[in-house]
Parts: sequence; C-alpha cells; structure tokens
Amino acid sequence: MKRWLVLLFGCLACVAQAAEPLPKADADARMQWFKDAKFGVFIHWGIYAVDGIDESWSFFNGYISHDDYLRQLQGFTANRYEPQQWAKLIKQSGARYAVLTTKHHDGVALWDAKQGITTKKDTPARRDLVGPFVDALRKQDLKVGLYYSLIDWSYPDYDGFLRDKKRYEVKDDPRRWARFVDFYQGQLKELSQRYDPDLYWFDGDWEHSAEEWQADKVRAMLLARNPDTILNSRLTGRGDYATPEQGVPIVKPADQYWELCLTMNDSWGYQPNDRAYKTPNQLIRVLADTISLGGNLLLDIGPRADGTIPEEQVAVLKEMGRWTSKHAEAIYGSEAGIPKDHYYGPSALSKDKTLLYLFLDGKPNGPVLVKGLKNKVHRSWVVGNGTKLKSTVLGKAYWSQVPGLLYIDVPEAVLDPQVTVIALLLDGPVDLYREEIKAIESN
Ligand code: GLC
Repeated sequence: MKRWLVLLFGCLACVAQAAEPLPKADADARMQWFKDAKFGVFIHWGIYAVDGIDESWSFFNGYISHDDYLRQLQGFTANRYEPQQWAKLIKQSGARYAVLTTKHHDGVALWDAKQGITTKKDTPARRDLVGPFVDALRKQDLKVGLYYSLIDWSYPDYDGFLRDKKRYEVKDDPRRWARFVDFYQGQLKELSQRYDPDLYWFDGDWEHSAEEWQADKVRAMLLARNPDTILNSRLTGRGDYATPEQGVPIVKPADQYWELCLTMNDSWGYQPNDRAYKTPNQLIRVLADTISLGGNLLLDIGPRADGTIPEEQVAVLKEMGRWTSKHAEAIYGSEAGIPKDHYYGPSALSKDKTLLYLFLDGKPNGPVLVKGLKNKVHRSWVVGNGTKLKSTVLGKAYWSQVPGLLYIDVPEAVLDPQVTVIALLLDGPVDLYREEIKAIESN
C-alpha cells in the first residue's frame, strides 16, 4: 500500500513538473528577443497559390473537392524561388523574424519529410524548400519561425477530413489515432533536428484536446532539443505567447507576450483576385497600435507558386522598412505606452520609461496634447529627424497636484508621410496622474 502511494505521488509530481512553467526570470530571458522584435513577417506558401484559393479550407469547407485541391500539386514549381531575396526583403522591412508555413492543414510538407505529402516527392519543385529559407534568414541575422499545422486533413490516419465528413472517431479507433500522433510527432522531430528553429508556430489545435495531442510531451521534446526555442500558444495553451488573429486588440491582451497575425488583403495565401489590400499607412498604424499595447505584429505575405512575391506585397514591405528604420528607437525594445486617457493615440516607452514616444496618426490641427503627466519634459524632438520641438504646460496651478496640459507644437514640415513619432525625454520614469479631479474649495 505504502509503495503504491509513493509511486502514485511520484507520478503526480512528474506530471506537475512536465506542465510547470519556467521560473519567471528564465521565461523572461527566453522571451526577450521576441518581446523586443515587435515586427515579423508571416509567409503562407503552399499549393493553394497555384489556383489562388483558400489554403486548406477551400476543400474542408467543400468549395472544391479534395482531389481537385491536390491537383494543384502539379502546378507548384517553385522555379523562381530565391530564399536569399526573400530574406533580404524581410530584413529590409525591419522585421526581426519570419515564420514560414512548413505544413498547412492540407498536409503538404515544404521539406522532404519522411512520410506524408511533400513538395520534394509530389510536386515539380522536387526539393526541400524549408532548409534554404532557414539558411537565408540566418545569414541576414533574422530569427527563424516555423509554422506547423497539427491538423492534417490529408493524412489517412487523421480523423478529420471535411467539415461534414470525418474519417473516424478517435474513441472508436484509438490505435489509428496513436498512429497519427506518432506520425506528427515524428515530423516535428524532423523539423527540430534539421532546422532547430527559434520559434514554432502551431496551428489547428482546436480539433483535439491537450491529452489527445500529447501537448506537454511535445513541448518537452522541443525544449529538450533547444531550451531557448519559443512556442506560440496554439498548442492547447502549452505555449509562450498568445496569438490574436486579424483584429487589432482594443484592450491590452491579458498575456504578457502576444503577437497579432494579420493579412495584407483578406487572404493568407496568394490570391490574385483579392484586391482588398490595406495601404502601408493603414498597416503602419496597426503596427503603432500593436507596439502601444506591448505586442508584436506578424504581417503576412503570400508568395506565388513559382516563389515570387507579388509586387503589392513587396511595396508594402519596403514602405514598412522605410518607416521602421527611421523610427527604430521607438520600436525595437520598446515597452507598451501610456493609457489613451493621457494621449489620444498610440505611444511607447523606452525600457527605463524615461522616454515617451507619441505616434501621430495624421496631421494635427493644433498642438499635440498630453494630459496628466507629472514629469517635467526635458526635451522633445521628432524621431528620425531630430528637429527640436517647443512644448508648453498650460493650466498648472502651483498649489495643486494636478498636472497641467502639455502642448507640443509640431510644424507641418516635420511630419512623416505615414506616422510621425515624437520623443519626450522625461525627468525620470513616466509618472501619470490618475486621481479623480475634485472641486477646489479654497483658492
Ligand atoms: C487560422 C487558419 C489558417 C491560417 C492561420 C494563421 O487559424 O486556420 O488558415 O493559417 O489562422 O493565423
């Protein structure tokens, strides 16, 4: 009985250990590059670019048959794929990392995986497309992220297939499910051993529970290979950061680390018929909003089946690059800004919180206003341009704790064509007045 109890507690302790998060300091150190990066490029590249249709979902949702969907394999040539050029462009955009779809829900692996459908074995591309990309990113000193879909709607041992048709139920055939689990974990092992990515971007966890995926085991396996690697949270929450999708968060997400993934038009992959592109201005404002709430933006591109990147997407990345390089000091390594109650717009703070950056969305009609700032401003200037600005505090009564209104004059000549950034050097870490304002009973 005693031995039995010891064993039981031993097992429980094991489980607790496997699922236990890292001590905070270690976790913060692991996440540092990611937190400082602010901007990454997402790449959805796959056979769906051949016909320019929705990645995987087009057959799952019944817009096209699975057979017709897979016929795109024959058109996936990658014959103008230049990973060095991709990496250069990504670098130029100011992104600090990129995430490539190594396998989407359709099950087509872009590396020469041992099992399953691959671009090497089943398409005219005839080669591993992931390795050269990883090398090219590393050459540009960019962090490497690999997207991997847990779901594989093409693999014969996967239970899901179409929205209205499953292959089988896991509870009815656990051995078949176990075969799938072995297969997918084998693929992850290949990715980790061959490419040792800095980040894994899981997707599709919603079809199964953590127990069915064996999520804790997967996390432990990947971290055993590389204790510094980062996992997004689409591994039934066993990851390191949250992944809001498409909508810019309105309130600061609860997770300390997060990344907004966003399409440039309305599609993840290449769809020439989708002209709903957001402009560089709109995307830069999204980036500013994201930075203001302390997150990262993962902006998506969808290369064509031949490996070229559509011109509209290249143009967006280049303009992002002009803006990010000019305003680098307000972007990389910055912290979330001040609440909008104090400044009607996105803002950011330096790590020591003595520099406040204000992002100016448009042309101001009058001086820019900051309210409730207790600090003195030693100096204010235009980031990336250096022009000193005149600031004035109005309405400050010497006997009151309530700060006055800080007005900063921003002449039209210094405005950036997209988003202007103003820096305020404070007399110490930012200090905000957050009290209720009361009646004045004695003057
Ligand atoms: C969704 C979709 C997928 C896309 C992903 C990117 O979860 O399933 O098609 O790749 O979001 O965030």
